Amino acid sequence: MANRRLAPVSEQPESFAFTPENAEWAKGQIAKYPEGRQASAVIPLLWKAQEQNGGWLPQKAIEAVADQLGMPHIRVLEVATFYTMFALEPVGRYWIQVCGTAPCDVCGARELKQYLHDRLGPSGHVSPDGNFSWLEVECLGACCNAPMAQINHDYFEDLTPESLGKLMDDLAAGRPVKTGSQIGRVSSEPKDAVTTLQDETLFDGSRVGAWRKRFEEQGLKEQGADATGEKARTEASAAENPKAARPDAGRATETKAAAAPAQNAADGKPADTKDAPAPTAKS
Ligand code: FES
Repeated sequence: MANRRLAPVSEQPESFAFTPENAEWAKGQIAKYPEGRQASAVIPLLWKAQEQNGGWLPQKAIEAVADQLGMPHIRVLEVATFYTMFALEPVGRYWIQVCGTAPCDVCGARELKQYLHDRLGPSGHVSPDGNFSWLEVECLGACCNAPMAQINHDYFEDLTPESLGKLMDDLAAGRPVKTGSQIGRVSSEPKDAVTTLQDETLFDGSRVGAWRKRFEEQGLKEQGADATGEKARTEASAAENPKAARPDAGRATETKAAAAPAQNAADGKPADTKDAPAPTAKS
């Protein structure tokens, strides 16, 4: 993993200030954030300070950014030492950041690191001609085209020690170089034969609504199955637990009306029971 210490005092400049042009740019960055949130501009300002200082961040630049944003120096130092995009020591004209995270590692990053070590010496040192320095960093987000390295602002992918060596030769000689995949891949397309996403219906629109239709059909099927199952369960339960038939089952029944004057008359009672004399006790 990268060494995240500040450069020795002997290499540190005595002061740092943004050029008028960069100071103007910095003001614009800070203005993007609401009052009280100026600290959010810390990364762009550090980035600009690094660019102005020839590709690395001296302590004075870190402090100047902290002062401008009203942050304690230690807070900005924490940011600068956390992200490997900030070089804390002088770098070569071409700063090679080679990814050493698992996908790149299994695809050949170790060979790249060995090559750089053999050609330039340990990481973190500038080559005698001032052209190169290198550093192992964590994933740079181009894992599909592993192994890869970032050189200054560009990505170089699908590298081998041979292609990296040629790249460095061309850069040192000022020859144009090709960024991106070094084996002719377009973007992150498959390295060999295309074996996926070949079904044309994926792209012609004929699948629009297909999922919905499928879910609806499935829902209907499940509802039908539920209804059939419920009926079968009811029938099985009735067969296992037959209930005793009621005497009046299936027949119309007559119930006496609350007030039945005709029936009262037939029974020898007063027609309106409401006015009937109260029953007397039998002797
Ligand atoms: S693992 Fe190397 S770019 Fe992601």
